[in-house]
Amino acid sequence: MEQTFIMVKPDGVQRGLVGEIVSRLERKGLLLCGAKLVQLTKEQAEFHYKEHEGKPFYPELVRFITSSPVFAMVWGGDQAIALTRMLIGKTNVLDAAPGTIRGDFAAHTPMNLIHGSDSQESAAREINNVFAADELLEYKKAIQTWL
Ligand code: RTP
Ligand code: MG
Repeated sequence: MEQTFIMVKPDGVQRGLVGEIVSRLERKGLLLCGAKLVQLTKEQAEFHYKEHEGKPFYPELVRFITSSPVFAMVWGGDQAIALTRMLIGKTNVLDAAPGTIRGDFAAHTPMNLIHGSDSQESAAREINNVFAADELLEYKKAIQTWL
């Protein structure tokens, strides 16, 4: 089972969209493996967005993501990374299709509500950055054979 790191960003928490986002991922048939409300430290934010270090928007991105709590989650399932990226929608809010989380709820680009890992390598780094091993559970749901 593939795991991915999903995070409702500060704008999503402030706007009260945690429940809506969790609900969409649950209804898709993904498996919730761990979740917590946390305010990222500068070090965690820099490690999380390490691939963007040096880009013009990087300092503002780190400031934004540490400005207020995020709701961090690990979700599992077959092709969980690609599947959640599809549900999240494109980065730029004008490219995010209706029906996606960003397409339905985001209106200004850096504030696009939610993060999802873009590869297995990123997922492993991002999960370990926020979760301890004993905060994550792998379990079976009886409905699994129907998904
Ligand atoms: P994320 O990592 O947050 O899930 O978003 P993403 O994969 O769709 O986009 P990515 O290219 O990884 O960019 C990370 C976040 O940085 C902000 N950004 N601002 N001003 C800009 O040109 C710009 N480009 C990216 C966005 O908040 C984006 O989600
Ligand atoms: Mg990204």
